[in-house]
Amino acid sequence: ARLPDLLRAMPKAELHIHIEGSLEPELIFALAQRNGITLPYASVEALRSAYAFSNLQSFLDIYYAGASVLLHEQDFYDMARAYLARAVQDNVVHAEIFFDPQTHTARGVPMEAVIHGLHRACQDARAESGISATLILCFLRHLSEEDAFATLEQALPWQDKWIGVGLDSSEVGHPPEKFARVFARCRELGLHVVAHAGEEGPPAYIWSALDVLGAERIDHGVQALRDAMLVQRLAQSRTPLTVCPLSNQKLCVFPELKDHNLPQLLDAGLCATVNSDDPAYFGGYLNDNLVQVFAATGMTARHAYQLASNSFEASFVPEADKRQWQ
Ligand code: HPA
Ligand code: ZN
Repeated sequence: ARLPDLLRAMPKAELHIHIEGSLEPELIFALAQRNGITLPYASVEALRSAYAFSNLQSFLDIYYAGASVLLHEQDFYDMARAYLARAVQDNVVHAEIFFDPQTHTARGVPMEAVIHGLHRACQDARAESGISATLILCFLRHLSEEDAFATLEQALPWQDKWIGVGLDSSEVGHPPEKFARVFARCRELGLHVVAHAGEEGPPAYIWSALDVLGAERIDHGVQALRDAMLVQRLAQSRTPLTVCPLSNQKLCVFPELKDHNLPQLLDAGLCATVNSDDPAYFGGYLNDNLVQVFAATGMTARHAYQLASNSFEASFVPEADKRQWQ
């Protein structure tokens, strides 16, 4: 069979998807209308044509503007149902979904509306399509640790509806150390811990995500190859990297997709996975990421099987439940 067909057909887990980054321009406009919000863009086409990014920050500015149409529990539900339906088309059988509560609570949206809307979408998608989906609460690293602590407190009444914490937003200048105490508290609570590190930031941020925050996975992590000791550490511990090729290309982390280091990460023995990050903004869902990065870098069927296997190994699904996919 052709390699793209194998990539599309193989069962896989998605572990790095920001639900706010799945909000398509059409849904942004529909929600704006439903909620009586006026957007600073005249049309879906005008909004989409603003999606030209030079780095992470230039993306984040427009990503937070897009999320401003989300007000009610039903909005969060509709957004997550749309993503999960799209993921099913890509043969995603399990998704661990990031959400950014501070983006919403700062606008007066109740934490309960965010968590209940997303969680109900996960439940209904499972009942309808069999896809399993869990939620990971991300702290915004451009805000203070105090703000992260307050967010954690607000979310704890619904701790049964999410499985862990992450760290996202503007990386450079906001090292993992800034959040050492709140992540220590999260670990005490038995939450899973992940962190974005080494997207634009240096290998030192990956070291501190591991050693200061206790991250079980590194989101992006593509800068790790600049540090041979770090590669050795990640390989021997099988610490997963959730890599997002189209994101890295669109945010100019690599000049072109053919320059992406995914094949080198895999060939170094790292547990790298492929993910979509913010598919509505970066021009592709999970299978688009796979098909395009394979075409650009000349990876083989051996890499495809390795990536599918890595995605389940790297997931937080209990080992006994993973066996159905491995
Ligand atoms: N990096 C940091 N923050 C983010 C990203 C990302 O790729 N996507 C959404 N928030
Ligand atoms: Zn991300």
